[in-house]
Amino acid sequence: MRLLFLFALLPFFLQAAEDVQALQRSHIQAQRAKVLAMQALGEKLFHDPALSGSGALACASCHQQSLGFSSPLALMPGGKKLLQKGNRAVPGLTYLQSVPAFTEHFFENDGDDSIDNGATGGLTWDGRVDRVQQQVQIPLFAGNEMASSPAIIAAAIDKAPYRAQFEALFGKALQQSPDKILAGVANSLAAYLHSPVFYPYSSKFDAVMAGKASFTAQEARGLAAFNDPAKGNCASCHFSSPDASGAPARFTDFGMIALGLPRNMAISENVDKTHFDLGLCGPLRTDLKDQARYCGLFRAPSLRNVALRTHFFHNGVITSLHDAIAFYATRDTDPGRWYPKGPDGKVQKFNDLPQEYWGNINRDPPFGGKPGDAPAFSEQDIEDIEAFLGTLSDGYQP
Ligand code: HEC
Ligand code: HEC
Repeated sequence: MRLLFLFALLPFFLQAAEDVQALQRSHIQAQRAKVLAMQALGEKLFHDPALSGSGALACASCHQQSLGFSSPLALMPGGKKLLQKGNRAVPGLTYLQSVPAFTEHFFENDGDDSIDNGATGGLTWDGRVDRVQQQVQIPLFAGNEMASSPAIIAAAIDKAPYRAQFEALFGKALQQSPDKILAGVANSLAAYLHSPVFYPYSSKFDAVMAGKASFTAQEARGLAAFNDPAKGNCASCHFSSPDASGAPARFTDFGMIALGLPRNMAISENVDKTHFDLGLCGPLRTDLKDQARYCGLFRAPSLRNVALRTHFFHNGVITSLHDAIAFYATRDTDPGRWYPKGPDGKVQKFNDLPQEYWGNINRDPPFGGKPGDAPAFSEQDIEDIEAFLGTLSDGYQP
């Protein structure tokens, strides 16, 4: 009897379940529409110079899509009058969505999870912020970048052609505090930076992995040299295979490493012989400034879209991809090629890091050897690796 009663109710239960599902679907659709609207607004903000103190500098001035969202010059001019030069190379912005939050002890999810990979992750070259919402506020307010203020931004939104779009998402702009407006701006920019424009996976490499294209003989040799522990050994840091979840290769392990790069004398601060950009231990990053073991370390970037860049490494001292690869081959076997000579005629190796921190510099392969030794890989390997890295640029047309 009781069973019969339950059966009689079944259609009502089913109807109720369907109603809940329909409600969930419409909720998801509404959420999705909101994210798309924020991304569309974020794209406009990204291109709007009115958000800057000079009125002339947008995010897109330094982060140009055709260059993998990097810039034509290593050290971009910024500030209220665009007279101050940047002190770090402008990084590309593609594939940042997989950068993990900064941690001093990183354990792999896949592979051997008992190995501490050390300091890893975070945004900017030194990993000093974790979320894009915080990151976007660095260039907005940095005196040598957009040199803006919450008041300038609020005034810009008030006059913007996309003001109605902003208000549809966040309410009447005029009635809000500049801080609330700033939060809407930061969240929309972050939504845009997480949109598929920034992770299209449309490179030749991706097409080859999907079985839809094949490498030339030179590209295939380049990938082999890139992976080979006895040659480039590049893949030991710039991972070239999918991770355990099957996600496409990221070409970075997000690790913090000191490469001992040459000093870039084009950075204004470097006129002062006692000034050093020490990465994790400061001066831009402040929370680890007493930890000598972190001095000179910077985050390994993804090499996706690296061939679109015009300058390389955190200080932009190297200005061709060929040289960036050659640096790994010959830093130790031909240091005179990379570092200047001092008054005593001696090559000033590692001249961008005080000697007390030289112990932090990475010496694993492909580094190693001494002046005059054969480099870990040849000029032909360098050209092959360069050809392979070219397959990592998005927008491949078969
Ligand atoms: C004047 C040139 C300039 C402008 C304008 C600029 N950036 Fe950048 N951007 C840089 C530089 C230089 C860095 C590296 C900073 C560092 O390591 O301290 C950077 C880093 C970043 C990063 C972190 C990338 C990574 O690999 O971790 C993001 C995200 C970013 N910028 C987004 C933006 C957004 C959004 C705007 C506009 C609000 C913007 N940038 C405006 C020069 C600029
Ligand atoms: C021990 C880890 C490690 C190995 C091995 C390694 N890299 Fe890197 N790579 C890094 C780090 C860390 C950076 C950023 C360092 C900095 O800017 O101070 C970097 C930066 C780069 C850049 C500059 C990217 C940009 O956006 O400016 C290129 C190009 C590059 N690596 C290519 C290679 C190639 C090619 C190999 C093999 C020959 C290689 N790397 C081997 C850690 C590594």
